[in-house]
Amino acid sequence: MSKALVVNGSPSLDKGNTAHVLSFFIDGLREGGCEPEVVYPSGMDLEPCSCAIMHCWYTKPGECCIDDGMSAVYPKLREADTLVLATPVYTPLPGRMQDFMNRMTPMMRPRLRSKDGRTRATFRKEVGIRRIALLAVSGWWEKANMDTLVRITREYAEDCGVKFAGAVLRPHAFLMSSYRPVADEAKHIRELLKKAGTELAVLGRMKEDTLDAISVPLISEQKLRERFNRLCPDER
Ligand SMILES: Cc1cc2nc3c(=O)[nH]c(=O)nc-3n(C[C@H](O)[C@H](O)[C@H](O)COP(=O)(O)O)c2cc1C
Repeated sequence: MSKALVVNGSPSLDKGNTAHVLSFFIDGLREGGCEPEVVYPSGMDLEPCSCAIMHCWYTKPGECCIDDGMSAVYPKLREADTLVLATPVYTPLPGRMQDFMNRMTPMMRPRLRSKDGRTRATFRKEVGIRRIALLAVSGWWEKANMDTLVRITREYAEDCGVKFAGAVLRPHAFLMSSYRPVADEAKHIRELLKKAGTELAVLGRMKEDTLDAISVPLISEQKLRERFNRLCPDER
């Protein structure tokens, strides 16, 4: 059975909008025959990478010099074939999520190559990951607000020499669970999130039309802005 390591980078752990959106996607992974395991960087004993000499590349290849909660994650990265980076937009991402991604560096092999004019590494031979997908949620209206996260994830996949399997993007995600006028649309989006998870499990990628339908606006841009601005009156 294939395995997915799902990294939920939200500081809200399993209580936030990321977790809500992710839960349906995970149901889809399971339905597609993939066994998911979720880890929470914000709930782990996780030190930031502070090793400028790249100990894990050039001193002891494949070994991190920090012994903390990440030690239990490395074997999981070797066993999984799919990595899902799930995160809220935190202009651009929560610090602990960045720490987690930095701490994956021991899993990369520092034999550099050139691809399309860029310098790239690869995952080490023992790492099972073949594809990396993004699931992102945000507060504001437009999907473009998540472009930086898409770019980061795409770059990350290229740097590791694996496929970028697509991005599930859910703008103004908090309305999914808390705004009754859009309950029917939210229900439909939950079904599509499940479909995207199954596509990733079965096809190794997600279809563009599924991803586009997940990101549809649930409210007008003006209405959403007014909701936010009610919380922040004009300065006098
Ligand atoms: C520090 C910080 C920065 C944020 N930056 C953005 C942003 O640039 N764009 C946006 O749409 N939402 C932004 N948000 C809102 C979160 O993405 C949004 O509330 C998300 O649903 C939180 O997910 P969670 O409930 O899983 O923590 C930011 C939130 C925080 C705390």
